[in-house]
Amino acid sequence: MDPESAPALSTVTAAVAALSRGALVGLPTETVYGLGADATQSTAVARIFAAKGRPHFNPLISHVPDLAAAQKLGVFSPLATRLAAAFWPGPLTLVVPRTADCPVCELACAGLPTIALRVPSHPVMQAVLQAFAKPVAAPSANLSGRPSPTLAAHVESELGAHVALVVDGGPCAVGLESAVVAVDGERATLLRLGGLSREALEAVAGPLMSPHEVDQAAPPAPGMVLRHYAPQALVRLNVTAPAPGEIWIGFGPDCAAADFNLSPTGDVTEAAANLFAYLRAADAQKPRAIAFAPIPATGLGEAILDRLHRAAEG
Ligand code: TXA
Ligand code: MG
Repeated sequence: MDPESAPALSTVTAAVAALSRGALVGLPTETVYGLGADATQSTAVARIFAAKGRPHFNPLISHVPDLAAAQKLGVFSPLATRLAAAFWPGPLTLVVPRTADCPVCELACAGLPTIALRVPSHPVMQAVLQAFAKPVAAPSANLSGRPSPTLAAHVESELGAHVALVVDGGPCAVGLESAVVAVDGERATLLRLGGLSREALEAVAGPLMSPHEVDQAAPPAPGMVLRHYAPQALVRLNVTAPAPGEIWIGFGPDCAAADFNLSPTGDVTEAAANLFAYLRAADAQKPRAIAFAPIPATGLGEAILDRLHRAAEG
């Protein structure tokens, strides 16, 4: 399809219906194709991680049609507002603090107090976002470790079995992922180079910091520069009988006595959807420790265990 022509109404309607029922949809943007889900439904977002085969939970970008929609989800400082005004709609993602009543699920933000927001310019994506009227979480629509897709056919061949449909918006004009800039008050940090040059960004924001300047202790690899939600409480793993004063987070039908159960039926995708919210709720009770029942290392179980091993070490 010519990206300049208006998308077929039936295609937009089908995409919105699929997103509403929690299914995944391949969506065109001007950068790369995205694997989209309703960002407010944690079970739908968990399906993104399952489909991509990600070994751990990277926080995802929430896509919205305009700045007004973005401001319901994130807190925009004057600098963030200037960047949005200069580059939205377009290939810029802004990482800003979540609003107090942000409806995007914890899993989409990997439990972080910040949220990544983007207003894409692609006319088909714009039509879907306006019709859906809720944020769409979408990483690039490729299997983990594969290059990002710039044609609908790439998404069909790699992830066709996992999506309700792939909306064909033609070849992506930019072909590189968005630039990711974190804004903390009047300080901007370039987290990922992408479809906008550093020069273009700095013309608006002034000199951009690099992640290691902000946090000397942070490992340099991109994607590793984010500290995921770290509980205050100690975390213990593989616990079948919790000690007094511990909160027990169960998994599966054998944990009827647990304080929380990630999935009473033993479904790892459902468990991933609940993980960050339960971790936060348990931590808020200031327990001696948070004890997790055994979780199988299959499917998203591997990503859950990766996350919990880090929490247990910290
Ligand atoms: O062009 C794009 O950005 C495409 C299209 C589909 O919009 N999406 C994309 O998403 O590339 P993904 O998931 O492959 O990359 C998102 C990047 C990751 O590097 C992630 O670590 C970072 O954004 N990110 C997301 N939320 C963050 C947060 N709260 N703090 C820091 N970095 C964040
Ligand atoms: Mg990617």
